[in-house]
This record gives sequence, C-alpha cells and structure tokens, in this order.
Amino acid sequence: MFKTTALVIGLSLITFSSTAADAARGQTLYKTCIQCHGEDGRGNPDQEAPRIAGQYDWYIISSIEQFKAGVERKNPKMLPYIKNLSSTDIEDLAAYISKMK
Ligand code: HEC
Repeated sequence: MFKTTALVIGLSLITFSSTAADAARGQTLYKTCIQCHGEDGRGNPDQEAPRIAGQYDWYIISSIEQFKAGVERKNPKMLPYIKNLSSTDIEDLAAYISKMK
C-alpha cells in the first residue's frame, strides 16, 4: 500500500518536473553539491561521490528521495545537504544536473 502510494507520488513528480522544473534555480541550489560532485557534476573520488552530470532527471529525483528517506539507500555524508530540500528543489536540481555535459 505504502509502495503504491509512493509510486503514484513519484510518477506525478516526474510528470510535473518535465513541465515546471527550473534549471536556473537548480544551478543555484547545486552550489552546495559542488564540494563532492564537482562543478561539472563529474564526481570526486576523494569523496567517493559519483558522476551525476547528464543523468536522467527521473533517476536523480528518485535517488535523492531515497537518500532523504534513508531506507532503500543511505548516505550519512550527503544527508545534511539534502534533508531540507523540498520536492520542487529536487526537481529543479535534477533539471539542471541532467543538462550538464
Ligand atoms: C559530502 C559529500 C556530498 C555532498 C555535499 C552531496 N553528495 Fe550526492 N553523493 C555523495 C556520495 C558519497 C554519493 C554516493 C552514495 C552511495 O551511492 O552510497 C552520492 C550520491 C548522489 C546521487 C546518486 C547517484 C547515483 O548514480 O545513484 C545523486 C543524484 C546525488 N548524490 C546528488 C546530490 C545533490 C543534488 C547534492 C546537492 C544538493 C549532493 N548530492 C550533495 C556525496 C555528496
């Protein structure tokens, strides 16, 4: 039941993001991510932070939501930087990151 609800919410987020996400706002929000994922999203081996540039927006959204929930995926290092992000923040970040080359 919970999973179905989560899926429905997830799918509506994705539909919403394709129309309304603001990549320019995402770029501003991305400043806190640079120390680990790099200015260009290429990742940083010293931080064990993966490349995220050019990743699909829906995958970025679902990853961040999972880390935020801390059940399926856990990442104590990144958590402080994502725990207060709203759904809109996450969508805007994903719009920006997915366009990185
Ligand atoms: C303190 C370092 C750190 C900061 C800051 C950080 N991350 Fe991460 N991030 C990581 C690490 C480490 C992983 C890999 C965790 C794992 O898979 O277990 C990760 C994983 C991810 C993933 C999943 C990648 C994949 O392929 O599954 C995404 C998306 C992501 N981060 C986005 C962000 C965004 C957006 C921000 C800024 C709001 C951010 N991160 C800030 C360290 C960080």
